[in-house]
Amino acid sequence: MDFKRNILITGGAGFIGSHVVRLFVNKYPDYHIINLDKLTYAGNLATLVDIENKPNYSFVKADICDFETILNIYSKYNIDAVIHLAAESHVDRSIKDPFTFAQTNVMGTLALLQAAKEMWKTPYTNNRFYHISTDEVYGTLEFDGTFFTEETSYDPHSPYSASKASSDHFVRAFYDTYGLPTIVTNCSNNYGPYQFPEKLIPLFINNIRHYKPLPVYGKGENVRDWLYVEDHARAIDLIFHKGKIADTYNIGGFNEWTNIDLIKVIIKTVDRLLGNPEGTSDSLITYVTDRAGHDLRYAIDSNKLKNELGWEPSLQFEEGIEKTVKWYLDNQSWMDNVTSGDYQEYYQKMYQDK
Ligand code: NAD
Ligand code: DAU
Repeated sequence: MDFKRNILITGGAGFIGSHVVRLFVNKYPDYHIINLDKLTYAGNLATLVDIENKPNYSFVKADICDFETILNIYSKYNIDAVIHLAAESHVDRSIKDPFTFAQTNVMGTLALLQAAKEMWKTPYTNNRFYHISTDEVYGTLEFDGTFFTEETSYDPHSPYSASKASSDHFVRAFYDTYGLPTIVTNCSNNYGPYQFPEKLIPLFINNIRHYKPLPVYGKGENVRDWLYVEDHARAIDLIFHKGKIADTYNIGGFNEWTNIDLIKVIIKTVDRLLGNPEGTSDSLITYVTDRAGHDLRYAIDSNKLKNELGWEPSLQFEEGIEKTVKWYLDNQSWMDNVTSGDYQEYYQKMYQDK
């Protein structure tokens, strides 16, 4: 079948990538969506069973750092656009193992860019390289009501954010140097279904469910700006189609919470949905040693995206968190599969045999 576009989405077996893949596969039957993922601990194809047999979807198990393989994939699928989400994404892991972050996030991004440059023909009329980045590259804010804008200077503090900052610079350098049609977006903290339970929200929902301690770093005073993952996926769709080449857009929910306030909302919601009396799980809160280099506050100004392309978050936080907690409680088998590690053995074996 001839498709209108052949879009490579990297990291599609991960949290945000799976929502982007699902959105594109369902919304654009005339696009071929090729999901490229290494299936690290964070990649789980069980997340995509609902679309895995669609005629416009293909999965390729590959490492973005493997340049020759990436070239072959661009060629085999006649890739004309890339939405790049594959990354090592967890700050705590980056503190323990920075090399893996530099390798995947920097060298992997560079391999994808270089392959695009070698395979695509100038003037790149139908091409687009869309790189998904994070607000963490901007560093940290005080409690002073200021926001990260697209003009904020980069000031990363963790090995994770340093690696993402470096990859953003490479993406922009490929536009400046070779004219490769790139776009970068920097998004705030996402939450919603299918997030790996090393991140705050799914970890705490699962711990409450099993009546396990909730490790709050430092005093729980750090602030994050939370966005429902499907709203991020909608923004990516819009920017992919309508965003200006060589431009940057910030994506965020104008939805700041201190960690401790957020944790109290999660506890209340989980207890209510489990039918526990209010306050049952309050004593699980356990203050632990702070994360090294812990950024105090993130807050995104997404007015440019609103004013230029008309995007706004669709969900109020109260609705989003209710939906999210309910999803994790209703999908305990997904969570058990992930926490036991069974999913890895299953899918790794399936793709090893191919
Ligand atoms: P995730 O950790 O859930 O998923 C990452 C995916 O990338 C996994 O499927 C993994 O298997 C894959 N991957 C890792 N290394 C790979 C490699 N070498 N080759 C191929 N695939 C590889 O991450 P996420 O939270 O979904 O984040 C996706 C992207 O969005 C990342 O680039 C991240 O920096 C960015 N981001 C995340 C958030 C957030 O709140 N989660 C916010 C802003 C930006
Ligand atoms: O801002 C965007 C970023 O958001 C993304 O780029 C990252 O990929 C994503 O992981 C996320 O980073 P954070 O470090 O903000 O997310 P995390 O869920 O790890 O932590 C959220 C906050 O909660 C943070 O201030 C640290 C704190 N925390 C986290 C964990 C896992 C705790 O207090 N206890 C915990 O056990």
